[in-house]
Amino acid sequence: MWIDRKRLEQSMEILGSIGQTARGGLTRLALTDDDRRARDQMVAWMREAGLRVTVDRMGNIFGERAGTETAPAVRIGSHVDSVPTGGKYDGQLGVLCGLEVIRSLNEHRVRTRRPVTLVIFTNEEGARFQPAMVASGVMAGKIALEDAYNARDRDGIRLVDALERIGYLGPEPCAPRPFRAYLELHIEQGPRLEEEGLSVGVVEGIVAISWSRLTIHGVQDHAGPTPMRTRHDALVAAAEVVAGVRRVAREIGGDLVTTVGSLEVAPNIVNAIPGRVRLSIDIRDPRTETLARARAMVDALVQEACAREGVRHELEHYWQVPYTPFDAEVVATVERAARAAGARYRRMISGAGHDAQYMAAIGPAGMIFVPSRDGRSHCEEEFTPMESIEPGAQTLLLAALELAGRA
Ligand code: GLV
Ligand code: MN
Ligand code: MN
Repeated sequence: MWIDRKRLEQSMEILGSIGQTARGGLTRLALTDDDRRARDQMVAWMREAGLRVTVDRMGNIFGERAGTETAPAVRIGSHVDSVPTGGKYDGQLGVLCGLEVIRSLNEHRVRTRRPVTLVIFTNEEGARFQPAMVASGVMAGKIALEDAYNARDRDGIRLVDALERIGYLGPEPCAPRPFRAYLELHIEQGPRLEEEGLSVGVVEGIVAISWSRLTIHGVQDHAGPTPMRTRHDALVAAAEVVAGVRRVAREIGGDLVTTVGSLEVAPNIVNAIPGRVRLSIDIRDPRTETLARARAMVDALVQEACAREGVRHELEHYWQVPYTPFDAEVVATVERAARAAGARYRRMISGAGHDAQYMAAIGPAGMIFVPSRDGRSHCEEEFTPMESIEPGAQTLLLAALELAGRA
């Protein structure tokens, strides 16, 4: 039994056209009309494939293919939301390879002992609503439903209202339920597989992640008559913080990465001294302990930068996920599947967060990576050739089949 590469490619084209950018990328922010259209397309395909579709209170979509026994399912999941001017592979590839697994089982009339369930998670990216992976976080009991519902986008729209508006505020509880295994295929989003000429990554775990939000309150004033000596410029303090955050990664070294990716300046006009700046700080490392060290350094440098400029600030470290190792048995199963699929593979860890990280907190989980061209992702240039997707999807099929058990 082999997956149908042509069928998978066609589905990628159709789903990838929803929210497509002029430069061939994807802007499909969570809970927008394009996200709804993508969900509707997935639900139609899931029903066509004979799956029983349900939606939970976080808008997570489940499509179950019954097993011959009533036993915990093998779940295959990912997401259909994207970052702004992102690519067509992050998330989307995982759900479509999951769908292809189910279509292949159907086509070959293979019954499994355990059910196989395709899962589409809400707002994985954290681009519109923070934090990322919020819906799997609620499912794992790590984020309160109430807090998730009250997350607001830049326009002040609450997540729960956006969910309701697109018709995906479902009735099922968003709570942990037993599963045999959770599998997620995803692009690597880094350069290693491509550099080493491999088509599959057997993922052993995901780095620890910390997100912080810094608000700096300066004094808004006129850019002309206000002498330099009396200024309290929120953006000048923010600029020091941006450079300082990068310095933390250089000083601690190793695998630590730090990013200021979002900066909001008010009033953001030519002729006013910036009165308020909001910025984000993203810190990641394979060792959870390193994050605490990095955060302490960030605390100190923010303090200093703001004192120097005479501005007030609030710094919230509002989201953390520890280093998450995947289940040894699931990892071994994925490795066996990669070998059986004839893929050239290696074991590796993920530098990006995935819903698999929260699923690993409540059950056995594992991931399959496929290469990213030039290591690029969260950009329109994101690309993975079908020559690598095919062995990746086949690895997913074989791993799911082994875990679900042929009837
Ligand atoms: C998700 O894309 C993340 O790693 O932030
Ligand atoms: Mn993703
Ligand atoms: Mn992503």
